[in-house]
Amino acid sequence: MKKVLITGATGRTGTSTIDRLLELGVPTRALVHRHDERSEKLASQGVEIIQGELNDFDKVVEALEGITNAYFVFPIQVPGILEATAFFAQAALERGVESIVNMSQISARRVANSVAARNHWLAERVFDRSGVAVTHLRPTFFAEWLTYWAQSIREENVLRLPFGRTAYAPIAAEDQGRVIAEILNSPEGHAGRIYPLYGPEELTQDQVVELLSGVLDRPIRYDAMEIEPFQKVLSGAGFNAHFIQHISTVAQDCRDGLFSGTNDVVERITGRKPESMKDFIVKNQAIFR
Ligand SMILES: NC(=O)c1ccc[n+]([C@@H]2O[C@H](COP(=O)([O-])OP(=O)(O)OC[C@H]3O[C@@H](n4cnc5c(N)ncnc54)[C@H](OP(=O)(O)O)[C@@H]3O)[C@@H](O)[C@H]2O)c1
Repeated sequence: MKKVLITGATGRTGTSTIDRLLELGVPTRALVHRHDERSEKLASQGVEIIQGELNDFDKVVEALEGITNAYFVFPIQVPGILEATAFFAQAALERGVESIVNMSQISARRVANSVAARNHWLAERVFDRSGVAVTHLRPTFFAEWLTYWAQSIREENVLRLPFGRTAYAPIAAEDQGRVIAEILNSPEGHAGRIYPLYGPEELTQDQVVELLSGVLDRPIRYDAMEIEPFQKVLSGAGFNAHFIQHISTVAQDCRDGLFSGTNDVVERITGRKPESMKDFIVKNQAIFR
């Protein structure tokens, strides 16, 4: 009997994956970081809940008991991805998990000065050597990035980001959730694969604010910040050094074109084209008003 574990279950990709798994009728357990209204909603949808930390080995072993296929995702806000990956790989082996989908990043590579890119690359290697069948997902920036800056868009009509003027194809978490759910439900043919994930269309931030202005019917401007002043903004807003390092290095990678490109992976795996940025903005327009 198939039974799937979703980590990061109350986060963006975790929630979207569970939505699709429920549609597919796959028995699902969610590892939640804390009990709150988000975990209560999952429980009310028929999802089995286990609460715990990915950095607690015994808890991860318990979470993987009776699980056939699992999704692993670790947040960017805190350090600890490599320990959590090793724990998850070992626990999966001990519990006889058949396959894992691992959330990585488009810029994952062996590089000294980007902890984000290096740690995702190392995490992939740890999973590869575990002996469990693993599929790595390497998305470009999520479309949801735009929603993080909803307040300045609402109050000042400005989008401030350090991504320069390089185009990339934002991908919605919902599309990623459908990819993850399909692979977990039918892992055949996906073992050992690395899938770069993109939305349908490469856009610069100037083009994104143009779409936003059209949907909102008021002018929104892009403030192309340099990375250093942006770090000060994040620091002033109370973000920790680990998070600021992560954002700064992905911003530089984006400027250097590492987040650019597009492909048909989402459509090939799910049978549906990924959502366009325009449709994403239309769907989420209330938060920018
Ligand atoms: N955002 C992007 O543009 C982008 C692009 C490429 C790759 N990625 C990768 O995507 C991943 C993030 O995915 P996401 O956006 O779906 O995540 P997310 O929305 O940030 O959610 C993270 C989830 O993990 C939970 N969590 C936090 N700390 C935990 C811990 N110690 N143990 C167990 N659970 C914990 C959180 O619960 P609480 O909320 O209760 O703490 C939350 O449910 C990162 O690895 C990132 O590098 C992101």
